This record gives sequence, C-alpha cells and structure tokens, in this order.
Amino acid sequence: MDYLSLAKQAVEAKSKALPTYSKFHVGAALLTTDNKIYSGCNIENSSYSLTICAERTAIFKAISEGERKFKAIAIAADAESFCPPCGACRQIISDLCGDIDVIMIDQDDNLKIMKTSELLPLAFGDKDLV
Ligand code: THU
Repeated sequence: MDYLSLAKQAVEAKSKALPTYSKFHVGAALLTTDNKIYSGCNIENSSYSLTICAERTAIFKAISEGERKFKAIAIAADAESFCPPCGACRQIISDLCGDIDVIMIDQDDNLKIMKTSELLPLAFGDKDLV
C-alpha cells in the first residue's frame, strides 16, 4: 500500500464525517502491518466535548477488531493545507499505534509525513506508569 493511496482513503473517509457544529470534515485511514485499512471520520455531538476525531474513530475501530500492530495513519481535512492531528489524538496514536508514520495530505495531494515521536516528543506512555 503506497502512502498516496492510503491518504486517498482518508479523503474518502472525510465524506462520511458528521461535523454538525464545526462544519470541518476530517477523515483518517489507519494501515496495519498486514496491510489492512481501517478508516474513520470525526463525529460531533450536541454535548460538544463528546466529539470524537477521525483518527480516534479509525484507531478504536481497528483495536476493537483485534488489531494491534500498525504502520501508518493518514489524515485529510477540509483545510487547504495539511491538518495535523490534535494533541489528544497524538497521545492516542503514540499509546496505541506506536512510532508510526503520520501522513497528512493537502488539497493538491501533496503529502507531509512525520513520525509520531516528532509530533509528540517525550510522550507519556506505559513505561512511565511503573
Ligand atoms: N478534528 C479531527 O477529527 N482530527 C484532528 O486531529 C483535529 C480535529 C475534528 C474534531 C472536530 O470535529 C473538528 O475537527 C473541529 O475541531
């Protein structure tokens, strides 16, 4: 699976978003080490803080299906430029997916690829709970 194809799946997932209040559509596509893809979108709620981001939707879908090993996650949004994952999603990616490739796509299909560890240096994790 090449990363442009994965990012295009994130763009596709964006069309399913339910951004009732922000009107900001986001899609994500998570790639497992055995090349399965789990997509997700942001889902908003009238109790605003219950909103879930696209990345977490995709990750929780995959985890709940028994997946544990991941290679990359792609993120696409309505924005002209790259949409970086929010702080909460950085923690979830770090904790549940590890130091994977985080791929952001802009409206001209340019990709920006960063490691989880670049986006969240000195991450808190299970190693800190001992
Ligand atoms: N959002 C995501 O889905 N992922 C991010 O990493 C950034 C923010 C969503 C949450 C909310 O529904 C909307 O974008 C505006 O913040």
